[in-house]
Amino acid sequence: MNIDDLRSLARERVPRIVFNYIDGGAEGEITLRENLRAFAEVEFRPRPAVAIPECDLRTRVLGSDLSLPVLLGPVGYCRVMHPDGEAGAARAAGMAGTAYVLSTVSGQRLEDVKAASTGPVWYQLYMIGGRETAERSLARAQCVGYSVLVITIDTTIVGLREREARDGMDQLLRGNVWSKIPFLSQFLARPQWLTRFLLDGGLPDMPNIITPEGRAYRVGDAHTSIKRGAFSWEDMSWIRELWQGPIVIKGVLTADDARKAVDRGAAAVVVSNHGGRQLDCVPASLRVLPEIVEAVNGRAEILLDSGIRRGADVVKAVCLGARAVLCGRAYAYGLAAAGEAGVTRALEILRLDIERTLRLLGCPAVSALDSSYVDVRRR
Ligand code: FNR
Repeated sequence: MNIDDLRSLARERVPRIVFNYIDGGAEGEITLRENLRAFAEVEFRPRPAVAIPECDLRTRVLGSDLSLPVLLGPVGYCRVMHPDGEAGAARAAGMAGTAYVLSTVSGQRLEDVKAASTGPVWYQLYMIGGRETAERSLARAQCVGYSVLVITIDTTIVGLREREARDGMDQLLRGNVWSKIPFLSQFLARPQWLTRFLLDGGLPDMPNIITPEGRAYRVGDAHTSIKRGAFSWEDMSWIRELWQGPIVIKGVLTADDARKAVDRGAAAVVVSNHGGRQLDCVPASLRVLPEIVEAVNGRAEILLDSGIRRGADVVKAVCLGARAVLCGRAYAYGLAAAGEAGVTRALEILRLDIERTLRLLGCPAVSALDSSYVDVRRR
């Protein structure tokens, strides 16, 4: 029925550590909870008795026409959720008429993911391995037609997700056989997942992060190398020369940073706190959206993520100034629950939700939404 049902199915079907990798947030999970609360605080101001023969969900984002204002945001390590992995999610996005953003930490080759989708595919960059490694992956991405580059700026190191740590993330990725043993029972408790995972070849390497010697990064090394290759604003100039298409800065939470991104050539920003997975106690994205809309003042497009669980959330974000939203967990739960079909279902749920919300609001089109349809009440 809804995204929460997909979450329950995911919890039943994948090992505890995989579920907590998707579901968990940083430290006390305060931002994770605030992301959801911020949407609950926005109330609708419907206009009943408005006839809507046709409801138009289309929107245009960075030159691409999308059938609904929802993109699939970058989510790493999808192949541990289901062997369909990133390619399955990209295919589902294409079939639904929307865009897919591929994470740097993907277990499938970026060429294969691009080929899987009939829709626009964007590439998200972490500078793991440093500038030359990044240059190689950007060249490959451009060569096969990735249209937009997304640079995530909020991950100078990986945040502390305590649930993952307790489930043995470190020991499983980097430990020896003995340190892994206490954590293995969670896999045996999910024999169907385990069989699929083993048939898929186990934990994949990272085929889009290639060392100068031509070897793909191991998952454990990618995780720890993020901090050595963290993006800083100075990197914008060489990336801008290298990348022909639009550049999006993801992880903006203040007006200052939004201006910085646009001044340095970003065509769009994603107002995002990484789904509450990085620095805890930062504000919900939705709460800072109005400040960022004002600062950007039409000079770039504004996208938002963090906390989208219903189509009504999408509508609220658009009313408050986002052109479209990215979702992360909403489709990752679907992928973990049922592979590509689960992602398709997640998108279908959001689409039906958005259309129903628009009709009940008395608004004929996503493009006609504005702040007059909502009220923000701090509870
Ligand atoms: C992410 N996110 C993310 N972002 C990014 O730029 N690169 C990445 O590799 C990942 N990986 C990742 C894995 C998982 C399991 C999740 C849940 C999220 C963050 C993602 O793009 C997005 O910002 C959040 O997921 C948005 O919040 P919601 O929709 O999950 O609440």
